[in-house]
Amino acid sequence: MWADLQYRILKRAFPRGPGFGESTFYIGKSKAEVVLGAGFLKSVAGKTVIDFGCGEGSEAIEIARSGAERVLGLDYREDVLQIARRKAQEAAVDKICEFTQSTNEVADIIISIDAFEHFDDPAAILRTMDTLLTPDGSIVAAFGPTWYHPLGGHSFSIFPWSHLLFCEEALVRWRSDYRPEGATKFSQVGGGLNQISIRKFEQVVEDSPFEFASFETVPIRKLRHLHNAWTREFFSALVRCRLVKRKARRASTH
Ligand SMILES: C[S@@+](CC[C@H](N)C(=O)[O-])C[C@H]1O[C@@H](n2cnc3c(N)ncnc32)[C@H](O)[C@@H]1O
Repeated sequence: MWADLQYRILKRAFPRGPGFGESTFYIGKSKAEVVLGAGFLKSVAGKTVIDFGCGEGSEAIEIARSGAERVLGLDYREDVLQIARRKAQEAAVDKICEFTQSTNEVADIIISIDAFEHFDDPAAILRTMDTLLTPDGSIVAAFGPTWYHPLGGHSFSIFPWSHLLFCEEALVRWRSDYRPEGATKFSQVGGGLNQISIRKFEQVVEDSPFEFASFETVPIRKLRHLHNAWTREFFSALVRCRLVKRKARRASTH
């Protein structure tokens, strides 16, 4: 009943539904360089790179054009992979850049952009990445917004923190009226949403075959004066990190 009331409030207050709009922030910019760090594209020359959670493939294609020897874009959604394949053909990099749902190929670098907050089981994804990475390879990941960010509910955040104010049942039912996907949970909406916080991600890495070579929470620009170790869950735009296999394991595989 409580969920039903919340659903009715959402329908009445926001009759146009959740915000499905695409971000225009990266138009004319290299998303890979902005989120993974300036100079990232130089580091891929001659390397085999996997883009895990590649979506429509723009970053994988850019990496292929930047001199990578081989690029694999992985995603579990066949519809986005088809778009990515067409874009790779148009960019004439389809010989070195492939898009697929799974692979056994091993990479020097695995990148993952804006995907760790969507993976249904981030710990399992890290175990898979472990099997796909050379002993000295690294994962370069950037993702956000995380769950306690004002817009951490992605399309559910119709205003800051609304995804925390309304219950999951009401929000998913409301969204389903506009995008019927048969979802009853956040994790079942298109592309998935796992409600990961920054602390939870740190824990997942602590329990994984990887350790942090670097870790940074990037403040929301306008709120950077409020950003510190206590407030980072609420005021971080994204998490950026590099993960390497744990030292003991690297040594044992040499
Ligand atoms: C927000 S999109 C990001 C796409 C791209 N990396 C970008 O930055 O534009 C997240 C992607 O992760 C994919 N994804 C979610 N869970 C996945 C999984 N378990 N395995 C592979 N891909 C997954 C989704 O299908 C989606 O394309």
